[in-house]
Amino acid sequence: MSHLFEPMSLGNVTVKNRLWLGPMSQYSAQATGDHASEPNAWHFQHYASRSVGGYGMVVVESTAVTLEGRATPYCLALDCADKLPDFEQLVDSILMGGATPAIELNHYGRMASTRQGWMHSSYLAPDAPLGWLPVAPSPIPFTEDGAIPRELTDEDIWGVVRAYREAAERAIRAGFEAVVIAASGGNLLHQFLSPLANHRGDDWGGLFSNRIRLVLEVIDAVREVIGEHPLIVRMAATDWDAAGKGWRLTDAVELVRNGKEHGVDLWDITSGGIVPGVVQEAGPGYHVPLSDRIRRDTHAATSVGGKIISAGQAEQALLSGQADAVVAGRNALRDPYLARRWQSELDGVDSWPLQYWRGI
Ligand SMILES: Cc1cc2nc3c(=O)[nH]c(=O)nc-3n(C[C@H](O)[C@H](O)[C@H](O)COP(=O)(O)O)c2cc1C
Repeated sequence: MSHLFEPMSLGNVTVKNRLWLGPMSQYSAQATGDHASEPNAWHFQHYASRSVGGYGMVVVESTAVTLEGRATPYCLALDCADKLPDFEQLVDSILMGGATPAIELNHYGRMASTRQGWMHSSYLAPDAPLGWLPVAPSPIPFTEDGAIPRELTDEDIWGVVRAYREAAERAIRAGFEAVVIAASGGNLLHQFLSPLANHRGDDWGGLFSNRIRLVLEVIDAVREVIGEHPLIVRMAATDWDAAGKGWRLTDAVELVRNGKEHGVDLWDITSGGIVPGVVQEAGPGYHVPLSDRIRRDTHAATSVGGKIISAGQAEQALLSGQADAVVAGRNALRDPYLARRWQSELDGVDSWPLQYWRGI
């Protein structure tokens, strides 16, 4: 059997294989009304298809812990218990296909209040319909045309920690079996990590130990309410800042070392997002060397995605000990059944659901 399709123990869960669906925003929730920011028929079919498609874990897209933490007015949020019934239905649709249901909890900070991804996430001004003023560690806009975000006070920051705790507790109540905390893609937690976005002079900024403080506080708060369920941190391993003044791989290694004592089960390695317009000349598997370095230096478990385009490449990342699991992104949008196809390619196993038996 291939490494990719071996089960994996993580916290109190056994994930059936090591090829997972990464979080990908659908920007398809209602922006207003009784069911605003809740999953709907689009999400149910999208995630059910990927679960039937054979991914071991299905990570639901970025779900905001507060409404102001949404990237767009069409993003999901778990900011209150009223939303639980629709999230429970989403969990059921994933379980039905056999995957472990997980959810990414997020806060976009200064990257909030934009249009949908297919509108190039363009900035939505605070006074535009459905727009709002974003918050951030420091009053530094993400893009030049963006509003200057409101700097969070110490009290606000503890409010963010509380919002993560409460959203995580709701996620477990809805039936999710794993929680992903995102400190990546230029979002709020990543903004606190990076000296490029965090210019604070208090004990949430400046020194490395201050900049990682919010991430560690969020990890502790989430762990308190999720018990033995897997806690995964999606982390940018570098800002790719040419001047070397941003968040660097050596910082990422140090954070993972710290995170070990805080009980993180696995680190999902990505990169970039703090500096707009910095386009990484990314070849296939461009995060794999970052994951390799973190795994070697810390002995922490990692998963990795980013242009992993073939079954052989995914298998090689595991076989060579560069990661413990592989995360599929855009490939999985184009092909819900990618995991089944790769399993058949690597192991010669046709594991299609019985309902589809006559189609094989
Ligand atoms: C449409 C789309 C939406 C995405 N939304 C999220 C998201 O909600 N949260 C997140 O952490 N990453 C998000 N990503 C990043 C992906 O999870 C993934 O890391 C990235 O696409 C690189 O992997 P790939 O080369 O396999 O696509 C998104 C990517 C795409 C294409």
